[in-house]
Amino acid sequence: MKKIILVMTALFTASMAASAQNIELPEVNHNRKTLSVMETLATRHSVREYSDKELSLQDISDLCWAACGLSRDDDHRTAPTARNKQEIRLFVFDKTAAYEYDANSHSLIEKARGDHRKLVAGFQDFVMDAPVSLVMVIDYDIFGSKDENAVRMCCVDAGNVSENINLFCQGAGLVTVPRATMDKKAIVKLLGLTDRQEPIMNNPVGYAKE
Ligand SMILES: Cc1cc2nc3c(=O)[nH]c(=O)nc-3n(C[C@H](O)[C@H](O)[C@H](O)COP(=O)(O)O)c2cc1C
Repeated sequence: MKKIILVMTALFTASMAASAQNIELPEVNHNRKTLSVMETLATRHSVREYSDKELSLQDISDLCWAACGLSRDDDHRTAPTARNKQEIRLFVFDKTAAYEYDANSHSLIEKARGDHRKLVAGFQDFVMDAPVSLVMVIDYDIFGSKDENAVRMCCVDAGNVSENINLFCQGAGLVTVPRATMDKKAIVKLLGLTDRQEPIMNNPVGYAKE
């Protein structure tokens, strides 16, 4: 009996691992209707209340690309990074799972199934009302150093990604707030990160509450 249970558990675990739900994102809509740059800058503001309207896959596609997607010759990103190191990794938390955005394949790679938005919220419960939260993680291994200057550069780079999200949301009819608050330790554990990979900023994203 014990043997049968062990075999069944192994089979169940294997099938769960095999059925990781990666999501191929639709092509970015470069013609999306948006405010002008000047209107976007003049009106950008933080929003901490969200309607229960879900983001469409097209919204998520455009949002991730705006944050740090491939641009120009495919060797640069929409957000600049020091020495073009591209060390800011982007994770997408929704009610189904936590995913990593893979800019090269423009897809979401499932990292942890289930709703883990509470970890992004920390002590700010309003975050759980946003359908999606984006978490920026500095990867010091990709940057190649974690010395004092590297830490400074990587924080600036994360700020660039976060501001891309802020501006995209304002221009494209979504709302967000840049945040440093989150349960970093729990996120590190959930995503299997090391002490050279640091969650640094996050942006809950949704539609404005009417
Ligand atoms: C680096 C940084 C960290 C922030 N952390 C938080 C946070 O943890 N929680 C929060 O509600 N807002 C956070 N904010 C949002 C600021 O409070 C907000 O941007 C500021 O009050 C200015 O308002 P505005 O964005 O509407 O111009 C953060 C902003 C920045 C730039």
